[in-house]
Amino acid sequence: MPETSRRRVLTGDTPTGSLHIGHWVGSVKRRVEIQETHDCFFLVANLHAFTTRADKPEEIRRDCIEVVRDALAMGVDPEKASIFLQTEVPAILELTYLFSMLLPYNRVMRNPTLKDELKVKGLEDNYSFGFPLYTVGQTADILAFRAHDVPVGEDQVPHLELTREVARRFNKYYCGVPDKAPDEEHESLGGVFPIPVADVGKVGRLIGTDGINKMSKSLGNSILITDTPKQVKKKLGKIYVGVDNRQPNDPGEVDPEKNPLFQYVETFIESPDEVAELRDRYARGDNIGDGVVKVRVAECISELLEPMQDRRKQYESDDVILDILHEGCRKAIAATEQTLEMAKEAASLKFFDRTISI
Ligand code: TRP
Repeated sequence: MPETSRRRVLTGDTPTGSLHIGHWVGSVKRRVEIQETHDCFFLVANLHAFTTRADKPEEIRRDCIEVVRDALAMGVDPEKASIFLQTEVPAILELTYLFSMLLPYNRVMRNPTLKDELKVKGLEDNYSFGFPLYTVGQTADILAFRAHDVPVGEDQVPHLELTREVARRFNKYYCGVPDKAPDEEHESLGGVFPIPVADVGKVGRLIGTDGINKMSKSLGNSILITDTPKQVKKKLGKIYVGVDNRQPNDPGEVDPEKNPLFQYVETFIESPDEVAELRDRYARGDNIGDGVVKVRVAECISELLEPMQDRRKQYESDDVILDILHEGCRKAIAATEQTLEMAKEAASLKFFDRTISI
């Protein structure tokens, strides 16, 4: 398909440093697939990282490089997708300010994901002005690219809803798109912005090797892409499979549905026949315990990681990562400057040709 008729995809992450297999399952795998068929932009939301870590700029910078290195190792291809830094794209920042005028303050504060984050981080009475603003910024991340599809986890859906509202309002105020126009018709009716759709993945959440919490680097329950087969085996060996599921004297009672290890079986063992057989034998207690299943899953995870570890060698140097980001930023700037021009024109904000050169 020619570049121009492909659907455009924008997605991103707040940089957290190294990636683990939970990231692979939850988002990166999908990106590696979608880069083949869509015009993809992957954003490193380094400005969002400042919402909670404004006092740690060097750490954020390092995390940006790491997250990109690991995404490349996992198979994101810089020839196919543009990977870029949020702070290098001025149109995003400019649109954020304008979009903040299109959203009632109370509407922004009602966002359940925002409320949750403030609660979880213990910030309810003490957060920066920029904290809620990041959600408006995210609408600009997406709309600056006039993206059609936004692959995200479930928790990001409220941000997408906000984005859709901004796009509809902009198109109504400044482009004459009628109030009740169907979302799919906004562009053909002259709207600057398509109304983007959230593309929510199936497996949002991989359980960590503690068998309880979501896999997360800070909880120490993750398998990193740099882990050796030995490390993987050791970590898997520690998965807690739950008291209910371990009834050696009554193997008939074992319920693989409730067993976190079986999420790994389903996710990392490719052959459906093998999965079905393991389930069956495990449930029947047919001489197969956690140990056997763990060893098999560990093998499959290491097989998945091997090519990633090989690819990662190409990206060891920070300069290589910076070059890739630089090129990605150039492409992101080109795409978003075009949108900004259209948006300014529509909102009667175009007084001159762009007077700063980038
Ligand atoms: N808020 C997202 C997260 O923390 C990251 C993000 C920033 C994003 N801008 C985006 C995701 C635009 C999708 C689209 O994971």
